[in-house]
Amino acid sequence: MAQEDVFKKIVSHCKEYGFVFPSSDIYDGLGAVYDYGQNGVELKNNIKQYWWQSMVLLHDNIVGIDAAIFMHPTVWKASGHVDAFNDPLIDNRDSKKRYRADVLIEDQIAKYDEKIEKEVAKARKRFGDAFDEAQFKSTNARVMEQIAKRDALHERYSVAMNAMDLDALKQIILDEEIVCPISGTRNWTDVRQFNLMFKTEVGSTADGASTIYLRPETAQGIFVNYLNVQKTGRMKLPFGIAQIGKAFRNEIVARQFIFRMREFEQMEMQFFVKPGTELDWFRRWKETRLAWHKNLGFGDENYRFHDHEKLAHYANAASDIEFRMPFGFKEVEGIHSRTNFDLSQHAKYSGRKIEYFDPETNESYTPYVIETSIGVDRMFLSVMCHSYQEEKLENGETRVVLKLPAALAPVKLAILPLVKKDGLPEKAYEIMNSLKFRFNCMYEEKDSIGKRYRRQDAIGTPYCITVDHDTLNDGCVTLRDRDTMKQERVAIADLPALLEDKVSLTGLLKRLHDAL
Ligand code: GAP
Repeated sequence: MAQEDVFKKIVSHCKEYGFVFPSSDIYDGLGAVYDYGQNGVELKNNIKQYWWQSMVLLHDNIVGIDAAIFMHPTVWKASGHVDAFNDPLIDNRDSKKRYRADVLIEDQIAKYDEKIEKEVAKARKRFGDAFDEAQFKSTNARVMEQIAKRDALHERYSVAMNAMDLDALKQIILDEEIVCPISGTRNWTDVRQFNLMFKTEVGSTADGASTIYLRPETAQGIFVNYLNVQKTGRMKLPFGIAQIGKAFRNEIVARQFIFRMREFEQMEMQFFVKPGTELDWFRRWKETRLAWHKNLGFGDENYRFHDHEKLAHYANAASDIEFRMPFGFKEVEGIHSRTNFDLSQHAKYSGRKIEYFDPETNESYTPYVIETSIGVDRMFLSVMCHSYQEEKLENGETRVVLKLPAALAPVKLAILPLVKKDGLPEKAYEIMNSLKFRFNCMYEEKDSIGKRYRRQDAIGTPYCITVDHDTLNDGCVTLRDRDTMKQERVAIADLPALLEDKVSLTGLLKRLHDAL
């Protein structure tokens, strides 16, 4: 099945099984805004807990905060977002549609790549085992022409973006004869800068109201609380402050479901260190964060680092952790060495002294910062993409199963009486009542047991417990494993000990701790 089709299936599975709904669905949705349903919210909360606990419980020098979304407007002047948090946009006069100029050009580069890949695939088929891709690319005239065009475009694009030369970006769009996908025309406006921050007003009267922003990142809430936390927590360098919360960006191009949203959630940790030690900490946090991802068991080959060549003016190193989505390797998390830029800027704009007194050296300085920043929704999407599987069974049927890591699954145990009579529902409830304090359980009695197993597979429940007539006499149930579909007889009394390590966050965290 083409990856595009797989992705479409995942999106519709998310809706059909209560994971993600379009926002305001009965009004036909709102672009790039989504709601999490009854299963989605559980999975999302488990992802957040896995992150939070790995930061705050596993590190005795990391504490958490929960800052307000509304912040003093000067915060965003100091951080640079008012002046520089922009995307270059362009409109098509015929379709009246708005696009990001950089995305139009990147799509064009991708088209050259696709053509090259097509030629390579055809040749591979023709030559079989003897095929030498490098040689083919350096000798085939058609492919060489496409590579040369792509490289020239890439170079022109990088120069224009680095200089934020809006005229040059428009000229590239014209020269490449890029058309609007809706109208099919090249009737483009000039390229303009578009600030991604949402504005609103505080204050009850129009005169007295002042403009404030919905935060575009949670990080600034940590920076402005650095002094509060350091002093009240008597924190010693190095130490970190972690936060999970909503962020808002008026994205022009909203694509790929919950990958790029206008309202989303971030899990960010700012780690304050002594100047001069930051690159060492940057390397350590890259490894620590990659281990956190790999611990979920999605396969090491599905991750890669993308080290940034072009750095933001305040950074001295930056790298993304990319995950293989059905639409290619994509950024899920960023790790940035942000120097002392943010704290210094806030010191300048607030007039406060934002420093650290080092008792070891008896000197005061502005700490440097390593940031780890991951989008909850992108993480959710990567978990969904990896877990969604369609399996051909021996009887010829296809089973749709979400092979979620058990600790992240919305429901851990489904408790199923074989029939709706003979005291089996009562016994099932009794078992559920004894387990529900430890595990998220679901009771289901409707339909055949086979159908109920399939429904649980589709929402990723790792274990089903079937209560049958023998249970009433022998105190045992049938435990069915989602992945292997194997069933075993287990004593009810043994269930907690048997399942705890397999489905709990504690088990997952212990494995991470051992891996670090
Ligand atoms: N404080 C640093 C910062 O915000 P970023 O690279 O802009 O850095 C960090 O964002 C992470 O937030 C990204 O790696 C991504 O996972 C998530 N993210 C950013 N924009 C997003 C959007 N529009 N929709 C969903 N997630 C987004």
